[in-house]
Amino acid sequence: MSKIRNLQVRELLDSRGIPTVEVEIAVDDPKHAGEIVSGRALVPSGASTGEGEALELRDGDKKRFEGKGVLSAVRNVREKIAPAILGRDFSLQSHLDDALRDLDGTPNKSKLGANAILSVSMAFLRAQSAAQRIPTYKLISSTFGTHGTTLPVPMMNILNGGKHAANGLAIQEFMVVPAGFETFSESLRAGVEIFHRLKHILNEKGLSTGVGDEGGFAPVFEDELPHEQALTAIIQAIRDAGYRPGSDVFLAIDAAASEFSDHKGAYRFEGKRLNADEMVDIYRRWTNTYPVISIEDGLAEDDWDGWAMLSKKMGSEIQIVGDDLFVTNQALLKRGIDSGIANAILIKLNQIGTVTETLETMKMAGQAGFGAIVSHRSGETEDTLIADLAVGTDCGQIKTGSASRSERIAKYNQLLRIEEQLGSRAKFAGPAVYGRFQR
Ligand code: PGA
Ligand code: ZN
Repeated sequence: MSKIRNLQVRELLDSRGIPTVEVEIAVDDPKHAGEIVSGRALVPSGASTGEGEALELRDGDKKRFEGKGVLSAVRNVREKIAPAILGRDFSLQSHLDDALRDLDGTPNKSKLGANAILSVSMAFLRAQSAAQRIPTYKLISSTFGTHGTTLPVPMMNILNGGKHAANGLAIQEFMVVPAGFETFSESLRAGVEIFHRLKHILNEKGLSTGVGDEGGFAPVFEDELPHEQALTAIIQAIRDAGYRPGSDVFLAIDAAASEFSDHKGAYRFEGKRLNADEMVDIYRRWTNTYPVISIEDGLAEDDWDGWAMLSKKMGSEIQIVGDDLFVTNQALLKRGIDSGIANAILIKLNQIGTVTETLETMKMAGQAGFGAIVSHRSGETEDTLIADLAVGTDCGQIKTGSASRSERIAKYNQLLRIEEQLGSRAKFAGPAVYGRFQR
């Protein structure tokens, strides 16, 4: 391992034009004495955030970027983190991350900001990968104890609603899951072709083909049952592209239900006030009619009783994913595991704030037989670390948006590069993860 020699930090912009933090770390080059190698990373940012997420530090100065500047986080990196780590030799990622956590000292990283801490944690991982001259996914796999050869199934959010689009759909994400393929590149190609077919279908209906934050279309369906309209249009797109719904391609939903819950047990859905049982009845209707095999945040994050009922009723048939519910947090995940709630977790680095804690949460999920889906945020950047994270941990699933917007495509492109690099060693997770759903 090598000493940290230099650290640079700056305020850049994310995919919504909102400030974010970038850090560049230079370490001694172990191969060439006196020289340095560096790595850099940018942190993402959510819109439909969970209450329990680590704190994203924003300046609140209304004169700059409507209060969303991150100069205070930048200052924390420069003035508090850099002096504490410069010149030190951290032999493991976890040693650096422990030092960062100690320096902050709060449970939710509210002193220095999770954006400040994560930018350093990620940049260090990149710098180590450069120093050791191994790709980042390989470095992750050696830390995590996996082969690091599994390309994940893409869960492609081709139709956006909720907080990511102003189109009146309560459900935030309608995803296609092209799992029934031999390779990642074939799977991705199917997802992309379906996205393009969907554009034609929406055009023919005279509906908008403008895209939402994650690159999916955001049409306004005038029908009484807009969500069913959305699902039907996607099924049509799968067929038009020449694929079979339910055997080549499945559907997944992220309801992000905290956003349409009144947090007293009622959900505002399609003009009605529904309770958790009635929401689950709707999900049941959808899984009976469409090949929906994964539902994320189907109920609100504070509705644990509802979650228990949802998990009991549907958990043996489909993937029930906790995102806002678990916020990549081990303590919350443990509570879910112990009480039979959900059977999979969404993994977002910035919900918890360090690479090491993210890996620990993924390890806990794996040991409990939970699925783990590495995920982008709705506010993303050109950083592609999550592609390496998904392969490095062999987790088998990635959620990184639709087939448009370069901050989403950047991750898919990185996965294509990794697939090429792995050559005949590359495995595709599709059949293993979704085989049981195939009709
Ligand atoms: P967010 O959305 O990044 O706005 O939280 C993504 C998700 O909910 O999965
Ligand atoms: Zn979500």
